[in-house]
Amino acid sequence: MASIIKEKALEGKVAFIAGASSGINLGIAQHFAEHGAKVAVISRSHEKIAAAAKTMTDKGHEAIGMAADVRDFDSVAKAYEETVKQFGKIDIVISGAAGNFVAPALGMSSNGFKTVVDIDLIGTFNVLRASFEHLNRPGASLISITAPQAVNAMMFQSHVCAAKAGINMLTKCLAMEWGPAGVRVNAISPGPIADTEGMARLAPTPEMEEAVKSRLALRDYGTKKDIAETALFLSSDNGAYITGTIIDCDGGSKLGDASADALAGN
Ligand code: NAP
Ligand code: COA
Repeated sequence: MASIIKEKALEGKVAFIAGASSGINLGIAQHFAEHGAKVAVISRSHEKIAAAAKTMTDKGHEAIGMAADVRDFDSVAKAYEETVKQFGKIDIVISGAAGNFVAPALGMSSNGFKTVVDIDLIGTFNVLRASFEHLNRPGASLISITAPQAVNAMMFQSHVCAAKAGINMLTKCLAMEWGPAGVRVNAISPGPIADTEGMARLAPTPEMEEAVKSRLALRDYGTKKDIAETALFLSSDNGAYITGTIIDCDGGSKLGDASADALAGN
C-alpha cells in the first residue's frame, strides 16, 4: 500500500519514540525514519533497543537507541537530553511503552495491577512531561498509544483498561494545557495488530485469533504499517489542526461484537 503522505514528510524532524524495541512502536520508528526523520528510541533493554536502532542505521537513516525505563522519570529525562545533544531538538514524541498479561483481578496482586498502571499511565505522563522543555514549539506533535480497553471493559484486563482509560484523559488534558504553546497531543487506539506481542498474549492460539477476527467489523487483524501511517498523518503537516483526539485505527474493534451470530441476533 502506498503512503498517502508525501515521501519525505518528516525531513528535518526529530522523533522520540518510547517502547520501540519491537512491535507497533518499532514499526512507527522505522516508518518515520523512511520518511526522513531522525529517530531516537528507548526501551528497558540495552541489547534490544540497540538492535532496533540498527535496523534503521543499517538502511542509512539517523537513529539512536537508549535504555530507559519509562517508570523512572530521570532516566527518560536523560534520554531526551542525549537526543537533543545528538539531534538538536524534538519535534515528535510517541509514548507507546506498555505491559500486559491476561489475569482476572482476583489472580493479580496489588503490585501486578500497579506494574501495568506504572508502565502504561505513569510512563506516558513521564514521557510526555519530560519532553516539554525540549520541544520545538510551536509545531510539536505528541502521540500516546492507547487501546480499545480504554473504553470497552474486557475480562482479565482490569489493569490495562484502567491504565489506558487514564491515558485517554491525560491526552485530552495535555492537549488543552499545551495547545496554547503550539503543542498538539493526540492518541492512537490500535485494534488487534498482526505479529505483535500484544496479540500473542491476548489471543495465543489460532482458534482464539479466528474468534477475535470473526467479531471484528473488518474481519481481520491490522498491520503495523496501518498504525505507522496513522502516526505519520498525525505528525505531518496534514495533521496540523488535530489535537485532543483519540484516533481509532482498529478495524471496528471499538464498535463491539460484529460477528455473524451477533448480526443474526443469536
Ligand atoms: P511490544 O512489542 O511488547 O511493545 C512494548 C514495548 O514497550 C517494547 O519495546 C518494550 O521493550 C517496551 N517496554 C515495556 N516496558 C517498558 C518500560 N517500563 N520502559 C520502557 N519501555 C518498556 O507490544 P505491541 O503489541 O507492539 O504494543 C505496542 C503498543 O501498542 C502498546 O502501547 C500496546 O498497549 C498498544 N496496543 C497494541 C495492540 C496490539 O494488537 N498489539 C493493540 C492495541 C494497543 P523492552 O522489553 O525492551 O523494554
Ligand atoms: N498474572 C498475574 N500477575 C502477574 C502476571 C500474570 N500473568 N505476570 C506478572 N504478574 C505480576 C507479578 O507476579 C508481580 O507481582 P508480585 O510482585 O506481587 O508477584 C508483578 O506483576 C510485576 O511482575 P514483574 O515480572 O516483576 O514485572 P516487570 O516489570 O519485570 O514486567 C510485565 C512487566 C509483567 C508487564 C511483563 O509482562 C513485561 O515486561 N511486559 C512487556 C511486554 C508486553 O507486555 N507487551 C505487550 C504490550 S500490549
